[in-house]
Amino acid sequence: MSKTPSEHDLAAELERFVKEQAARFGDVISYVPAKAPVSEAPAAAAGPQPSIAIGLLEEKLQVHRNEPWYTAKTLEELESKINQCQKCRLGETRTKFVFGVGNPNAKVMVIGEAPGADEDKQGEPFVGRAGQLLNKMLAAVEFKREEVYIANILKSRPPNNRDPKPDEVEACEPYLWKQISIVKPKIILCLGRIAGTNLLKMNESLGRMRGQVFDFCGISVIVTYHPAALLRNPDWKHGAWEDLKKMRRMYEEL
Ligand code: URA
Repeated sequence: MSKTPSEHDLAAELERFVKEQAARFGDVISYVPAKAPVSEAPAAAAGPQPSIAIGLLEEKLQVHRNEPWYTAKTLEELESKINQCQKCRLGETRTKFVFGVGNPNAKVMVIGEAPGADEDKQGEPFVGRAGQLLNKMLAAVEFKREEVYIANILKSRPPNNRDPKPDEVEACEPYLWKQISIVKPKIILCLGRIAGTNLLKMNESLGRMRGQVFDFCGISVIVTYHPAALLRNPDWKHGAWEDLKKMRRMYEEL
């Protein structure tokens, strides 16, 4: 199968990166701390997760204490309690509920926007072309797909891949918060503006969010390009590469 130009670029970057591995990350990566963190979260990237952080997430979830899924202890239990959800209109049009996939103890959680056509068919996030690129992006900084946990802001596909509507996000995001509270990642990587603005509840451009370390309930969050955007705009890949290296560096410093 022939590769698209963008896949070639990333493969070349990956090859170069692997060659440079001998020098280890400290030499390879020029990690520059965030210029102006919107929210100071120094402790989240280093050392054990403070209990106060999980407390903040539990507080957000408290509002939903009467929901049947609220007490779920595992991802499997949570999925079984929410996968028939009809809280928004997308319940009527989806093929499969796309819960999330990966390591239930992941230190890194990757959050995208919403399932696309392939994900809707297969019931797993990031399995289409953007997913293939995501796997390569992760591999380029030495993460296997199975090592991280991958989920989306929405669990059901919006028709024609339109942007999520605010009421759909409102209905679905508590499920993501619950996933986060079960997995307890140390780092969240948001893919694209929609994932970043909805998780962080801020109305910013991707350009202004990139390069900063944000805080979500004590968890460090960085925002980078969505892989689908990189497939359309290969010139942005250099920036994505910098973001991924930064994430790896944060992970190394945990
Ligand atoms: N795009 C997303 O944001 N999520 C997916 O799962 C697939 C494509």
